[in-house]
Amino acid sequence: MKNIAVIGSGTMGNGIAHVFAQNDYKVNLIDINSEALERALATISKNLDRQVKKEKIDEAKKTATLGNITTYTNLEEGVKAVDLVVEAATENIDIKLKIFQDIDKYAPENCILASNTSSISITKIAAVTKRPEKVIGMHFMNPVPVMKLVEVINGYSTSKETTEAVLKASKKVGKVPTSVNDYPGFVANRILLPMINEAIYALFESVGGVEEIDTVMKLGMAHPMGPLQLADFIGLDVCLSILRVMHDGLGNPKYAPCPLLVNMVEAGHLGAKSGVGFYDYS
Ligand code: CAA
Repeated sequence: MKNIAVIGSGTMGNGIAHVFAQNDYKVNLIDINSEALERALATISKNLDRQVKKEKIDEAKKTATLGNITTYTNLEEGVKAVDLVVEAATENIDIKLKIFQDIDKYAPENCILASNTSSISITKIAAVTKRPEKVIGMHFMNPVPVMKLVEVINGYSTSKETTEAVLKASKKVGKVPTSVNDYPGFVANRILLPMINEAIYALFESVGGVEEIDTVMKLGMAHPMGPLQLADFIGLDVCLSILRVMHDGLGNPKYAPCPLLVNMVEAGHLGAKSGVGFYDYS
């Protein structure tokens, strides 16, 4: 594998493009919005500057990394000659299914199609393509340049060859991949989201305040962020949507989202990206 396409240039997409480009892959970064592509390149450049400042890379490596990225607004052009596509578009099932139908049409026959979805079934995505054995999940964690894990998710039809190729590519970009199977929430969110939901319940039931709950988990359990700050960082709408997928898909009341989370999302308090969540970012 040498040539990669990344679809979607938001936080996850630009992070994924960053790590592949930094590890000598040619990356086609694709987004329907050309301004979003410009913003993504600016973000990658800023994040590379952090690495230069910390002397983790030099200026020449920064220039080479940016030189490995080409931007496209045309999906067909961007995927027509790549070995791996990593889709990191918005977390909406209809949009993702349409993108996979299109990339299946335009990408080379032997190309692997991966999704960075945090909650949508890989099996369902694979079923809209003519190559379900080559469809897989590559769930990167935010911030992508920093977090070591790639949760590799095998759909019902994913072949062993596809899994092996994706595990190898993940290691080549300095990540530690773990291979898991496709059930709602996979492993990362199946364990993380109930913890976040429980922290929101603890707040809802006045067991503790925001800072108290986060301090207990940060200092008591050595988590880098408390669960409420982490929920703000992930996006409260994203947290709610993942809990709903698990609640619907696993049918267990323990995954029911806390009513406070539902209210906050309905009020537009989505966390850091909206300026307010459990904390104020204005
Ligand atoms: N690009 C490159 N480097 C970055 C970066 C970025 N976007 N963001 C931070 N860094 C680097 C910093 O330069 C710094 O580097 P050094 O260690 O060399 O000094 C390091 O990361 C730590 O950053 P900071 O000092 O600025 O801040 P911090 O110590 O508070 O750490 C954090 C920030 C890494 C985000 C840390 O708080 C953390 O690990 N938080 C938890 C993150 C987490 O749990 N992510 C998973 C979310 S769940 C998910 O993504 C999946 C899902 O489906 C919901």
